[in-house]
Amino acid sequence: MTQNVFDLSGKVAIVTGSAGGLGKTIAKALAEAGATVALTDINTDALDEQKANFEANGWECSANRLDVANETERKAVVDEIASRFGRIDILVNNAGVILRKPAAETTDSEFTNLLSINLVGLFGMTTAVSGHMAKNGYGRIISLSSIMGHIGRAGQATYVAAKHGVVGLTKSFAAEYGPLGITSNAIGPGYFRTDMNAELLKDEQFVQSVELRTPLRRWADPDEIAGPIVFLSAPASSFVNGQFLMIDGGLAVTVPAPGQGS
Ligand SMILES: NC(=O)c1ccc[n+]([C@@H]2O[C@H](COP(=O)([O-])OP(=O)(O)OC[C@H]3O[C@@H](n4cnc5c(N)ncnc54)[C@H](O)[C@@H]3O)[C@@H](O)[C@H]2O)c1
Repeated sequence: MTQNVFDLSGKVAIVTGSAGGLGKTIAKALAEAGATVALTDINTDALDEQKANFEANGWECSANRLDVANETERKAVVDEIASRFGRIDILVNNAGVILRKPAAETTDSEFTNLLSINLVGLFGMTTAVSGHMAKNGYGRIISLSSIMGHIGRAGQATYVAAKHGVVGLTKSFAAEYGPLGITSNAIGPGYFRTDMNAELLKDEQFVQSVELRTPLRRWADPDEIAGPIVFLSAPASSFVNGQFLMIDGGLAVTVPAPGQGS
């Protein structure tokens, strides 16, 4: 194994929801590995700040407002990125939202709204880039599922449904796009310290229950998403397709001993 199997020089990567949380770490990791990164998010202030930071580091990038739930925006932005850089090699489907609400209190429109971002948006981004990737016979689709794509949880039924859906799409894309040289894999983060979990992080009892429940006995730092993303984006993972890689410190595959969280 030589170091250059992780080199992304000459590759163009799109990251959705790149300006916050895990997306920010993912975009930086791809740039550090040599990729040109198309930064996209609905938060335009954060996006401007991210672009300035990339330019200060000398990393080639573009920045576009993009709501993944908006079909017109998806197509326009993907085509603009392809025409600007001449290629698209990597898509990280990172943008996502959570709804913490008992199932019986969740309305159809809340469910549909979550699906339109976490599932339809991810589906549409993938289909929009697939033709551009197929032209070069090379592509990497990496989709953010969750431990909630593997297990269920009370109070998160809509999010759990969407994240299980991401795993299904990942496997179907692996089958459909594999013959075109495009791989599709999913990542399943456990508990990371990001804005999505800001409320949970204020609850010391919950913070400790996650620590106890996780075999590595801690929450993840956002930087810990970088290695798996670069691996799945790079030549190092050339024959890895349709997989669901958990980044959760062992949480989703273990049963807690008595007194070790729930
Ligand atoms: N943080 C965790 O512990 C954790 C665990 C499991 C899975 N995930 C998944 O990882 C991904 C990133 O999570 P995060 O913790 O960084 O979230 P976050 O809320 O901290 O950041 C999400 C980013 O996505 C952007 N965004 C939101 N809606 C968007 C839309 N419609 N179109 C484009 N961008 C949009 C936001 O502006 C923000 O920059 C999500 O898919 C999430 O479900 C996170």
